Order: sequence, then C-alpha cells, then structure tokens
Amino acid sequence: VAEARSAAREASTLDDLQAALAAFDGCNLKMTAKNLVFADGNPEARLMLVGEAPGRDEDIQGLPFVGRSGKLLDRMLHAIGLDRSGAYIANVVPWRPPGNRTPSPSETEICAPFIERQIELVSPEVLVFLGGASAKQLTGAREGIMRLRGKWLSYKREGIEIRAMATLHPAYLLRQPQQKRLAWRDFLTIKAALDGKL
Ligand code: URA
Repeated sequence: VAEARSAAREASTLDDLQAALAAFDGCNLKMTAKNLVFADGNPEARLMLVGEAPGRDEDIQGLPFVGRSGKLLDRMLHAIGLDRSGAYIANVVPWRPPGNRTPSPSETEICAPFIERQIELVSPEVLVFLGGASAKQLTGAREGIMRLRGKWLSYKREGIEIRAMATLHPAYLLRQPQQKRLAWRDFLTIKAALDGKL
C-alpha cells in the first residue's frame, strides 16, 4: 500500500496516473486481467461516477461500464441530459477480478490510493458512488447502500472536500428493476445540484 500511495502521489496528471497504474505490479488482479480499465468520459466534466470493478466486457475493451450495466448507466445519464462527454467514469479497482468475483479487501486497499488520486486530479463538483462497495471504500461509511443512498455525503481528503452521493449500482438495478425509481430519484437530486438548484 505504501508503494501504491507513493506511485499515485507522484502522478501529476491523469496520463501519469494511468501510466503509473500500468507499471504497478502490486495488485494480483493485474495478472489475470486482459486490460487496465482506467476511465471513460470527460476529465473536465463536473460529474464523476465511481463503480466497483470491471466486468468481462470492460476487461475486453479496457473501458468502464461498457457492458449491460453500462448501457443502463448511459440511459440513466441520458435521463438527466448527460452523456459520456458530460461525465467522467472510473472504478475503485481498475482490473477485472477473475470470474467477476468481488474484489478482496486487500485488493481494494491496494488500489485505493490510485482512485483517490484520480478523484483529486479530476476534481469534480459532484461525485457519485455506484453501489455500496464504492461508497463504503471512499467514505469509510459502514451503513448499507439502502441507508447511504439518496443523501448528500462528503468526500474528504487532505485539502479537498467534494459533494458526493451514493446510488444503486446499475448491475443491481438490472436484477431488481423495481428499484430503478430510487436511482431515478437520486439522479434527479444530482441533476438539481449540477443545475445549481441545490
Ligand atoms: N460494474 C462496475 O462496477 N464497473 C464497471 O466498469 C462495470 C460494471
């Protein structure tokens, strides 16, 4: 983790950070993954979304949220008038865990300095955690996603504070479509914040 932390800290641009991850051998997930899944979208966007870890399609294409959950995420963004040019998208863990298993706590811990630096370099106005894993890792909260979602949280690190909201993960919504109304409510709140009405 110390090695990850110093590699992440030394990166002064997103390109540097991507190169630092590509050169980092401290996470075993890299050995089984086909590609590094760094980010998609616009680094100048006011909105940044952070998921958990790449799946099969993401691993093949080297881009986050391009499979079925990504298609749903695009529809959710579209519903608030955005596409990938109006958002920046990344994951807590940038390599696919074998068979899409949940990343282990040590894998997540080792990757955390990189996503934290990525957030710092993008410096969005609004940060959205897609699912409980991302929300818990990045805020230290212990509540489940149903308690965390839909209210303003704060992402705080040395010298930065960003308004943040957790919402339901699109993969969960594909399994539980009746919960889409909750995510919809969260996205409307996010839109109001971006429109300066909150
Ligand atoms: N699920 C995630 O959390 N991230 C992706 O990139 C794809 C699916």
